[in-house]
Amino acid sequence: MTIETLKIPRIALGTWAWGDSGEAGDGYFGSHLTRAGLEEVADKAHAAGFTLWDTAMVYGMGRSETVLGDVLKRFARSDYQLSTKFTPQAAGTGDDPMADMLEQSLARLGTDYIDLYWIHNPADVARWTPYLIPLLKSGKVKHVGVSNHTLSEIRRANRILEESGFRVEAIQNHYSLLYRGSEDAGILDYCRSHGIPFFAYMVLEQGALTGRYSPENPLPEGTNRAQAYNGMLSQLQALTDRLASIGQSHGAAAPDVATAWAIAKGATPIIGVTRPDYVDGLVRATSLTLTGDEVAELEALADAADVNTRGWWEKEM
Ligand SMILES: NC(=O)c1ccc[n+]([C@@H]2O[C@H](COP(=O)([O-])OP(=O)(O)OC[C@H]3O[C@@H](n4cnc5c(N)ncnc54)[C@H](OP(=O)(O)O)[C@@H]3O)[C@@H](O)[C@H]2O)c1
Repeated sequence: MTIETLKIPRIALGTWAWGDSGEAGDGYFGSHLTRAGLEEVADKAHAAGFTLWDTAMVYGMGRSETVLGDVLKRFARSDYQLSTKFTPQAAGTGDDPMADMLEQSLARLGTDYIDLYWIHNPADVARWTPYLIPLLKSGKVKHVGVSNHTLSEIRRANRILEESGFRVEAIQNHYSLLYRGSEDAGILDYCRSHGIPFFAYMVLEQGALTGRYSPENPLPEGTNRAQAYNGMLSQLQALTDRLASIGQSHGAAAPDVATAWAIAKGATPIIGVTRPDYVDGLVRATSLTLTGDEVAELEALADAADVNTRGWWEKEM
């Protein structure tokens, strides 16, 4: 069976924070996003060729998918790609909980297929991976990937799919200057040698690596990301200052350099876009080539910060 290759732009767009927008949302980011602002984000992104949108049912418990679906109505379906996820912990009790969750995502996103469907975490690889197969056969899901899986879990999922002529076509893990577990565990090498795209999430550590936030100007109080990062902002200062100064020498800004670092490592960053001007940073990041010395210096500064940014939902790779 031939599988049509997945086409991906150099940077994908993340919409977890979009689940916070409007009246409802889960307060994870504390972002105050407006429909008009997000439409502008989408217009700018599409004009620049960034057309792959990542979401999940659990982002704002449906809200991210609903907002994204509404905003993307302005484009032809063939002009963008949708990436969303099955989250085992939110599975229902029907005969096929994955098909049920997919149907709900399709309805919220206003579409009849998903370009890239993920198993969000390896809750039970042997149990959940086979449910992807009928979805691939039906065409409701074009490509599949696994997220937050270790290398042995990736291999296991791949073996299950291969028995039916499919395969794991993408990996999505937390990967940033501050969190390089997937590299240490050999997952990046595995992806490179198997021609599988590695999607890096939280490359900017939810804003903590952008230089926008500091001990004097912390992440919005009362939010989950404030709880995760505000206590370490002073330790990150040397790194964010260097990201900014390297950026300056390339006509770019700190977050652009952090994003370019991930690209230099062979990853496809998924960047959470909340403001239209952030798209300009993505454009700069794609034309920014860091030297080997710059990469090494940034990684040394990241190690010296000595922080652990592992998400509460993640386990060691
Ligand atoms: N598979 C998984 O388990 C998993 C887990 C986490 C994330 N993800 C995916 O990965 C995506 C990215 O992760 P994330 O959104 O959590 O975090 P992120 O991309 O590390 O950071 C996003 C935040 O950084 C700030 N930012 C972005 N671009 C900027 C720029 N150019 N200049 C200054 N600040 C900028 C924004 O914060 P402000 O709005 O405060 O400025 C934004 O909310 C998610 O949206 C989601 O799609 C997947």
